Amino acid sequence: MQVKNKVVIVTGAGSGIGKATAMHFARYGAKVVVSDVHLEKAKVVVEEITQDFGEALAVKADVMYYAEVESLIQHTVAKYGQLDVMVNNAGIGPKQLLKTADHTLDDWNSVIAVNQTGVFYCMKLALQQMLKQGFGAIVNIASLAGLKASLNNLSYSASKFAVVGMTKSAALEYAKTGIRINAVCPGYTESALLNQLISSRPEMDAMLKSVIPMKRYGEALEIADAVVWLASDQTKFMTGQTITIDGGTSL
Ligand SMILES: NC(=O)c1ccc[n+]([C@@H]2O[C@H](COP(=O)([O-])OP(=O)(O)OC[C@H]3O[C@@H](n4cnc5c(N)ncnc54)[C@H](O)[C@@H]3O)[C@@H](O)[C@H]2O)c1
Repeated sequence: MQVKNKVVIVTGAGSGIGKATAMHFARYGAKVVVSDVHLEKAKVVVEEITQDFGEALAVKADVMYYAEVESLIQHTVAKYGQLDVMVNNAGIGPKQLLKTADHTLDDWNSVIAVNQTGVFYCMKLALQQMLKQGFGAIVNIASLAGLKASLNNLSYSASKFAVVGMTKSAALEYAKTGIRINAVCPGYTESALLNQLISSRPEMDAMLKSVIPMKRYGEALEIADAVVWLASDQTKFMTGQTITIDGGTSL
């Protein structure tokens, strides 16, 4: 895929889909800024990338905080001179899966702050840099939960529908500028986030698999492939789109 030498930031790249995406970009010759709220996790990913094949830098950023996202982008541009690709992947789920009347304020506030406001901060600041350059691609990690109803998961659902909306609206605003904005909507994918969901209610494993027509979870690399493709020059005529990768669940 055509991403060689592109400068790429992946947020939440310390594990799961973000880690697989950062490593995949590096495999294709991109320079990757591996960012996470937990710097130690980001450093481990950078070590794996640089030992094997690629160029990477670990930067701590909690996407909940505007100043941390600002410094992430400043740091990237100071080191590599530009920002070609911003992958807004950092995301969390609610601690408790409860119906809307019982959904805790704590879960609502933290999920919206990371998944929705965090993506807004990352888009706003990446766009400012990309507008100066006259090029760039943003890939947001939304979810199947941003396309269809999900039970007992209101904050997550709200945040992911918002990511899909922000992707489409901003794509339209910037279509003439050489900046493209697309999103990937994964279904249930093997990761720490999914493990958290299953371990909170063990019966969930069989229940979730029963609604996936392919009868298995997705692999992080299967999501990463689509992210790299959407950021590559092969999709230069695509903007404002969502790609659903869910083993047929949405059908
Ligand atoms: N795994 C799934 O089934 C699934 C399905 C649909 C969408 N997604 C989305 O994919 C993305 C990645 O999730 P994952 O499944 O790989 O989860 P994960 O928990 O394995 O990874 C998330 C990473 O984000 C980091 N992070 C959390 N809060 C952060 C913050 N405030 N700032 C910066 N980094 C932060 C974590 O430290 C972690 O490394 C999320 O946006 C998630 O909503 C996941």
